[in-house]
Amino acid sequence: MKKSYTFNRALAAKKKFYYLLFAGCMLFAACQTPEVPDPPTPPDPQPQDTTEIVPTKTEWEIADSLYTVADYTVPSHTALKMAIVACAADSSQANIELLRQRISELQPKEEPYNMVATFNGDPKTNMGFCWFTNDGITDGEVQIVPIEDATEADFANAASYPATPTQTKGLRYTGKARWIVNASGIGAGVRYKYISHKALATDLTPGTAYSWRVGYEGHWSEIGHFRTEDASQGEYSFIVMSDSHIENPTYINEARRCALAAVKTVPEARFCCFPGDFVEDGDANNSEWEWERWFEESFKPVLTAMPLVPTDGNHDDSPNINYTYHFNTDNSFNVNYTDKPQFEGIIYSFVYGDVLFYVFSMQDFWRETHSYLDWSSVYLKDHVGAWFRDQTNAHPDTKYRVSLAHFNLFSGSDHSTDKEPPVFRHNMLPVFKDCEIDVALQGHDHTYEVIGPVDPDNLTPILDAISDREGGPEYGGNNKNMTGYKGGTYCTNDGTFYFIGATCGHKRYYPHTRDRMEREYTNDTTLLQDDHHHNVMNYFDLFTGMFGQPEAPTFTKITVKDDCLEFNSYTADDDQGNVSLLNTMRVVRTKAHGVPAN
Ligand SMILES: [Fe+2]
Ligand SMILES: [Fe+2]
Repeated sequence: MKKSYTFNRALAAKKKFYYLLFAGCMLFAACQTPEVPDPPTPPDPQPQDTTEIVPTKTEWEIADSLYTVADYTVPSHTALKMAIVACAADSSQANIELLRQRISELQPKEEPYNMVATFNGDPKTNMGFCWFTNDGITDGEVQIVPIEDATEADFANAASYPATPTQTKGLRYTGKARWIVNASGIGAGVRYKYISHKALATDLTPGTAYSWRVGYEGHWSEIGHFRTEDASQGEYSFIVMSDSHIENPTYINEARRCALAAVKTVPEARFCCFPGDFVEDGDANNSEWEWERWFEESFKPVLTAMPLVPTDGNHDDSPNINYTYHFNTDNSFNVNYTDKPQFEGIIYSFVYGDVLFYVFSMQDFWRETHSYLDWSSVYLKDHVGAWFRDQTNAHPDTKYRVSLAHFNLFSGSDHSTDKEPPVFRHNMLPVFKDCEIDVALQGHDHTYEVIGPVDPDNLTPILDAISDREGGPEYGGNNKNMTGYKGGTYCTNDGTFYFIGATCGHKRYYPHTRDRMEREYTNDTTLLQDDHHHNVMNYFDLFTGMFGQPEAPTFTKITVKDDCLEFNSYTADDDQGNVSLLNTMRVVRTKAHGVPAN
């Protein structure tokens, strides 16, 4: 797709003149050969020293002083800074060429970046949009045309929706002294302010393919695409992938590999669910550079192809509130309920076809006298629980009910022995039981985990609800599949099916063994923190399907069919979008849902 923008030509020409002038002087100086002195002559008065003064600055030092972040987008200027640091360490011709390339790629400060479409209201008619500009750029709108693969010219008569600009706090850019600090020379304490632009389209036509772009005249983004839900939506597919933990080039590249593979494998996907941990640095060090790379590099293939369904993870939590600035999702929970998370728009629901989705955050709440780690958390039991029941009663007739959250009620790897899961089970299992949640899509544990369906009263697997599994139990098996099971059909009439689709990135955890679970989860509670013992006997038996570490970026395609939810999980094999099928499962429901008591 072509990027369209109008460069600040006067400024650029002026800087290019000085840049070329200095570079030319250096070249001239380098080409001079020492003059051979004349033969000795009788002593005369000493001649004046006429040695020409040549610039001593290097080419990259000149570039550093000429091209400042005040004039260019933060992402393109950071790329230049990285090239400057590379030249300073090694002034090879390759690095000099990279420096010149980064100069030519500098984007004027007016250009938009970090663009994303998200559901906000009815997916038949509504779509939310969000993007960033540098601080001070407050103009902005989203333009939309009902054309599947529009060109720039197609936007001549586009529908326009104005954006509301919000100046962010000064967001910590590089976070801790991680890779980017060394690579760019941008200090760990540097903060940038931005303008977060949010726009909402509300009168779209159901079942229509649209193209969109953001910005303002002369400064438009690349073109994105989405399709509104059909008036009577039948079968469709969506993607789920999680925990990119953007940090350094390895993480950036592996997440991009997964995003590319997902879009190529499931081009028909209507949206992409992301259950949290976008970035690595959390808390006050939450790094905007990591968010920027997630948008601009890793997930760009997804973000220009379909809407995102974001969910905040514990690594995304921060007083910086980077998360809230980046997404335009429904914020009615924070308006209507008393105990609420610090972030706006992280608890929201939508119906798509025959599925009611509940997107929520269990952990982004720690203020005042309440804690999400309270055994009787007011936030979870009273407010999130009430919200679940309200959504269910408002949409009682969908065939499937799917929750999406970062933290787990059940899991079997590094985070399974944290203090959170028992508390979440204590507070949320009664809610899941009342609302008859069919599928819980989870993140956080970075391992491929198929759990249940789980009896919500006895915390045991409902084995007669499972059929069609391949293989057999191979307890103590290898890390790629501890149970030996693949495939399977899981009926959720009487309990929830829990799923973690490993990680789309590079941060991998490994499955715990049956022996370890028996030792640490049930029989020896002294190994657990506080008194938050698990109260789950035979925990390993809950793992009723494939359970292991795929050792590659992983995504899952879920197809909503008349008779099932079909899961197909893939690993991304290369940077060309090739994949390997990891596992196929079906979730079925054979009796109609009830509705919870209020
Ligand atoms: Fe994570
Ligand atoms: Fe996490």
